[in-house]
Amino acid sequence: MPYFEAPRSALLVNSLCGADANPRLRLIVDAVVRHLHAAIKETALTPEEWITAISFLTRTGQMCDDKRQEFILLSDVLGISMLVDALATQRGPGATENTVLGPFYVSDAPRHENGADIRLEKKGEATLIEGTVTDLSGQPISGANIEVWQADTDGFYDVQRPATIPEGNLRGQFTSSEQGGYHFVTAKPLHYSIPCDGPVGELLDGLARPAIRPAHIHFIVSAPGFERVTTHFFVDDCPYLQQDPVLGVKASLIAEFRRPACSHDSPEPGATQWAARCDFALSPK
Ligand SMILES: [Fe+2]
Repeated sequence: MPYFEAPRSALLVNSLCGADANPRLRLIVDAVVRHLHAAIKETALTPEEWITAISFLTRTGQMCDDKRQEFILLSDVLGISMLVDALATQRGPGATENTVLGPFYVSDAPRHENGADIRLEKKGEATLIEGTVTDLSGQPISGANIEVWQADTDGFYDVQRPATIPEGNLRGQFTSSEQGGYHFVTAKPLHYSIPCDGPVGELLDGLARPAIRPAHIHFIVSAPGFERVTTHFFVDDCPYLQQDPVLGVKASLIAEFRRPACSHDSPEPGATQWAARCDFALSPK
């Protein structure tokens, strides 16, 4: 093996792999090494900057536990989460698109009947979310599972503030009807900041990048024989749609939030102030 020379640095690293290397791992590491070495050469990275990078990654790992995952947040703000998902999910025309899962999903959320109000704190503007779950030809899918979760009016999910927000607030599971329909009442979603008290926050600050996520509701929709959809629907009048720090917005996922007739100025008891349709078209497996 030749000794180290900067111009051939990546080639030298990759030439160390043995004949029994895992072929897929070798392919991936080969590409990562080539692109990383090229970036270091392009930017003439200094030793001080490299130590800063190592410290950044170390602190990112130290901020990961079962409640906080700073590496997923880093993947999200670098657009990697969206890109990996886009490459893995090539769906047919008309199929509902995926977006990021985010860090606040909880499996086994409370199950509700259609029509339930999931505002356990009764805060926020009452909003009817309704829609249908169909296959790609528009045929209804009954018995589909619809999981939803969103942040409250202060910008926090229940799991972020367990001492002050009731467990299961703005979160739940619904089942689609014979006609594929579902509906529930929630608070109109508001924009919120991603967690900025860690290394990822420092990175965004140094790059003068926005940290506010546009208003959205998370969904996971699944049914036997169909591909599971992990997505959000975004609020069409949110001013932050164009600058999502995790790049999660797709045009097909922007829902029109409208005022139901005669309800918003002096709402009747139980009336909703907003309504939006969030329809799902699932691809066969
Ligand atoms: Fe979210």
